[in-house]
Amino acid sequence: MAFILSIMMIDELPVDERITAIIKERGITHLYPPQKDALPHVLSGKNVVMSVPTAAGKSLVAYIAILQAALEHKKSMYIVPLRALAQEKYEDLLPFRDIGITVGISTGDLDKRGDYLGKYDIVVCTSEKADSLLRHGSDWLHDVSIVVADEIHLVNDASRGPTMEVNLARFMLMQQVQVIALSATIQNAEEVAHWLDAELIQSTWRPVPLKEGVLFGRKLSFLDGTSRELQNSRLEGLLEDVLDDGGQALVFVNTRRASQAAAEQLEEITASRLDPGEREQLHELSERMVHDETNIVSRKLSRCIERGIAFHHAGLSTLQRRSVETGFKQGLIKCIVATPTLAAGVNTPARMVIIKNLWRYSGGEGGMRPIPVMEIKQMMGRAGRPGYDSEGEAILIAKNEMERERLWNDYLLADVEPVYSKLASEPALRMHLLALVATEFASSWEEIIDFMKKTFYVHQLGVVPEERLWEMLDFLERNEFIEAHGERWKATRFGRKTAALYLDPLSALTMRRALEGKKGTAFSYLHAICATPDMRCLYLQRRDGWVEEKLAEETFVLDVPPPYDPAYEWFLSEVKTACLLEDWIQERKEDDIITKYHAGPGDIHAKVETAEWLLHAMRELARLFNFEMVPFLSKLGMRVAYGCREELLTLVTLRGIGRVRARTLYRAGFKTISMLRKARAETLASLPGIGMTVARKIKEQVG
Ligand SMILES: Nc1ncnc2c1ncn2[C@@H]1O[C@H](COP(=O)(O)OP(=O)(O)OP(=O)(O)O)[C@@H](O)[C@H]1O
Ligand SMILES: [Mg+2]
Repeated sequence: MAFILSIMMIDELPVDERITAIIKERGITHLYPPQKDALPHVLSGKNVVMSVPTAAGKSLVAYIAILQAALEHKKSMYIVPLRALAQEKYEDLLPFRDIGITVGISTGDLDKRGDYLGKYDIVVCTSEKADSLLRHGSDWLHDVSIVVADEIHLVNDASRGPTMEVNLARFMLMQQVQVIALSATIQNAEEVAHWLDAELIQSTWRPVPLKEGVLFGRKLSFLDGTSRELQNSRLEGLLEDVLDDGGQALVFVNTRRASQAAAEQLEEITASRLDPGEREQLHELSERMVHDETNIVSRKLSRCIERGIAFHHAGLSTLQRRSVETGFKQGLIKCIVATPTLAAGVNTPARMVIIKNLWRYSGGEGGMRPIPVMEIKQMMGRAGRPGYDSEGEAILIAKNEMERERLWNDYLLADVEPVYSKLASEPALRMHLLALVATEFASSWEEIIDFMKKTFYVHQLGVVPEERLWEMLDFLERNEFIEAHGERWKATRFGRKTAALYLDPLSALTMRRALEGKKGTAFSYLHAICATPDMRCLYLQRRDGWVEEKLAEETFVLDVPPPYDPAYEWFLSEVKTACLLEDWIQERKEDDIITKYHAGPGDIHAKVETAEWLLHAMRELARLFNFEMVPFLSKLGMRVAYGCREELLTLVTLRGIGRVRARTLYRAGFKTISMLRKARAETLASLPGIGMTVARKIKEQVG
């Protein structure tokens, strides 16, 4: 492949010209230098790790390889850590359908075999989904010949990292796959490349120059030695500066509350710079969002959007987030104030990124912690993206001279941290070990050792942590997930189900305890799922005294710790989370829930989604331990899915009918499908919130 080393033009690539034609249609004619370095290796079938700066076009390298493979009838998987990224990659690949390459996306449901995905040439999915597919062992997985691991530096992430490395280890043991791993700049990229037996491509090159700087007073100084004086100091001064220059800004803060507050505080600055055309388009954008989803948060957000600014955090619903991102990409929303959830891998048209907070709260570590340099660089990297700007600026704000020095040394000049495997953590290890045995991928001690040797964990540690593995296997055996049969372990039915349902074994044990006790109420089981480590519970706040009062009213199927027990505080947050779910299925208004729990629509959605999955899992376990509970849990699961009381369960299954409209119909006397069948469309249309379009849709469905 040496002959292509000098290639810079897309045209000259030794790949099918139908591929290059579509790439060129998107305005990409030349390869960037890191792409030019990586492609010969990638196209010759070698494993490659690309550790290069943000925006250097890492995805395109992987795209070219998997598209060419697809035309040669080879399958690929593109694995990303986040759903939003999966969507972006999927949309990038869709245009290649025109030349017959099929692309599928899969991010949800972790208890499905996914056999249908076998028909696609390229499957884009999240790490969890890839893991779950591997556990269900669809045949097509054996045909995968290229695995792309995007954002591989996140092996360092305690929650997502272990899954990423276990997936790669599994693929590498299963068959001859080519691994293309894309990484941010990290200190130990060589170690990652060595682990994957890959060629390492490193570079400091960036297509759009990114100037990193610190603001102190009105003076903005950059690392490259340049500086300029602003009209005003602080965040306000920076925003005015970038807007007056025709750019857009992305501000990162560390809490949701701060993102809302800052957006409101800055709205004068954006509003005063809008032209009448922009004002009108922003008005339309915000109207559309509120029309599609009315709640306190969307009303607040729409007021901001009207003024050319927005906040963005995990509490927003998908629709709200999408409205903000679209408005920003269209250049209408001039500034987004976001929490770091927006940071990883996405393309945004921000000329200036401003990072307001360098510390954030970390529950696990018990207080405020500095944000790692790597994450700061990821946030900075959202500025100056190709296709949007010819230069980007990333700014930190100092309050005094001393801090200015510190920011300069600790962030701008600092090396990015190395990444470390997090597979050693107990939850990760017990979950993945069980999956290995349950899928019979590794069931003897030797096979488990062989597997572990393929992980980044053992690669970094240098030895197999035998004692720790024995401890975990012993835990799984004592709790009846696995049984020893001579030299091998075999999973019990309980163990196999737990692995297939994608549960933490500890969650499965909690559910089992809940199922084996005396029968409880709907609330008892909502609490039981909230007591599993797979549910992220709401924090308890000072004004949540009511949670304790709730205890007297409810029965629990799990033990209640006494108030002096350190576990009591945690128990209360489980109860609080269960109360949210209960309010949801009692049809409490979304706005009331938002206010009572200090949660956003995105949080409600996330809790509901997790609860659906866990109730489904508990129902499946009930088949083993308490069959009588199966119908009860099915119904409860449906109520959570739709957010309604039992009597609405038939009405909500109609398309276009959510819990609110179902309640309207029910109140008006239309309680069953046959009653709807007899009703006239006009009568239904006259009900509040129904209207003719929905009424017709109902009639079409009920016949
Ligand atoms: N050779 C090229 N010429 C012009 N534009 C390109 C080229 N390669 C990629 N791009 C564009 O550059 C942008 C950034 O690419 P990409 O998202 O792959 O960056 P990345 O390296 O993955 O960055 P991050 O580390 O932030 O994820 C995309 O919009 C992409 O279309
Ligand atoms: Mg990327």
